[in-house]
Amino acid sequence: MTQVIVTAPAKLNLALDVVGLLPNGYHELDMIMQAVALYERVTIKRADQIQLFCQNPIVPLNEKNTAYKAAALFFAHTGIKGGAHITIEKNIPIQAGMAGGSADAAAVLVGLNVLYGAALSLSQLCELGVQIGADVPFSLVGGTARVRGIGEKIEPLPTPNPSAWPIVVAMPGRGVSTPQAFARYDELGGGVHPDCAAMAYALRRGNMAQVCSLMGNSLQATGSAENTEDICAVLRSHGALAAMMTGSGAAVFGIFDGEQEAQQAQNQLAKEYRFAVVTHFINCGTKIAAIKE
Ligand code: C5P
Repeated sequence: MTQVIVTAPAKLNLALDVVGLLPNGYHELDMIMQAVALYERVTIKRADQIQLFCQNPIVPLNEKNTAYKAAALFFAHTGIKGGAHITIEKNIPIQAGMAGGSADAAAVLVGLNVLYGAALSLSQLCELGVQIGADVPFSLVGGTARVRGIGEKIEPLPTPNPSAWPIVVAMPGRGVSTPQAFARYDELGGGVHPDCAAMAYALRRGNMAQVCSLMGNSLQATGSAENTEDICAVLRSHGALAAMMTGSGAAVFGIFDGEQEAQQAQNQLAKEYRFAVVTHFINCGTKIAAIKE
């Protein structure tokens, strides 16, 4: 085997509750996460060293990149003497709260595991993943899940019917740094605390109206994202059942019950914002898309 192509999906937070502050400065979270059909596509070839390639000039091609960290950790953990030529096709917006960096790391872990025949289990990959970023375990597992701890405790939930609930995601001009968003939350406090247990129950019952009414994000009110309320207002004016910022921002999404309304909201948002798409829920995570022998 000489090459693998891996796809890793973006996530949205249907709920994000900051539960507490841990001694290491990280925040204990309770979240409902949902994978959506927007994918990083990562091509990995065997090489002597770790080398990154990406057409997007904002992406650092060095050891700060989550993909690089994932490869370095994989080789250190397995003891395999090797490297990888990693090409990232970035389709998830950067600093959006959609786990794009975590998706890249997840893709590298899954790809190298197959390319080098390491046979690590999904839970072993998750254990490595959380050392790189809090959202990497969910990027690996995907689907719909209640996620706790800093992101390592994952309880899968049923995925709502993707075709019944189209999603519109829009990203304002400027992204948000995750550490800064948490620092502002610590400074300013307050915010909402969505009931994730109730949302998990609603998802199990397939009660989407209830899911929408329980949506909330502790980081939204204290966040520094631009245009959050403007985008929510556009989404609601086109019939979104609920609209909210995802993760630490800056992307905002709305849940619709009709494709036409979703398309109209996307059309309007695309005129004003650099990224606006209609997408849908998916019930999977990071996957091998192709293998070249
Ligand atoms: O792990 P990740 O790289 O996604 O986290 C980026 C930053 O976000 C961390 O350095 C930390 O400041 C903050 N964070 C946090 N609590 C979490 C996840 C992230 O405080 N559960």
